[in-house]
Amino acid sequence: MVRIICLAIGYVFGLFQTSYIYGRMNGIDIREHGSGNAGTTNALRTLGKKAGIITLLGDCFKCVFAVLLVRAIFGSSHPDTIRLLGMYAAAGCILGHNFPVNLGFRGGKGIAASVGLVASFDWRVLLIAGTVFLVLFFTTHYVSLSSLTGYLAFLGSTLVMGQMGLFHMPQAELRELYVVVALLACLAFYRHRENIVRLFRGTERRTYLNRKSEK
Ligand code: G3P
Repeated sequence: MVRIICLAIGYVFGLFQTSYIYGRMNGIDIREHGSGNAGTTNALRTLGKKAGIITLLGDCFKCVFAVLLVRAIFGSSHPDTIRLLGMYAAAGCILGHNFPVNLGFRGGKGIAASVGLVASFDWRVLLIAGTVFLVLFFTTHYVSLSSLTGYLAFLGSTLVMGQMGLFHMPQAELRELYVVVALLACLAFYRHRENIVRLFRGTERRTYLNRKSEK
């Protein structure tokens, strides 16, 4: 029951769609422009660098806030349980971001929110997954490829560090954690299925920080 409450709290936070709100303030529905995704990359592509930065921060921090709220509410529980419950809150936030009930279930792909998830989960995992993302991005300029590879690094480093005992969690909780992270990785791949097709076809858009996005 506690896990469902955490998912629900996270889901509500996930409904705060930064790029959608920013787009509406500028007279557009971000989902009708560019890739049609309500996320950082499309905000950058469609509305510019400031919109991209605000979307990245807004979507990242809504996930961090969801985790912090769950930690505050269930703070008296065992600390390792809190780490797992925080993961449920973050997973709920990503679900709310990707499938927002208030926007007809048409949201984003959950990458910026996942940055918030990893940041609030473990700094070592953030360092590994973040490095993988940045290396891929600055060599290929494909955000989708970098995001998915970063997700695999997140999953892989969680598995390895968990098996090394670095999370200090009971085995049952650890296995549960692995399942949640693996499901989130599957969700990220599912949400990027059109990007994956474009990557294989060579038609995926590249993203540049110092000039307009281009193919
Ligand atoms: O954050 C989503 C990114 O990985 C891809 O976005 O707009 O290029 O589909 P987009």
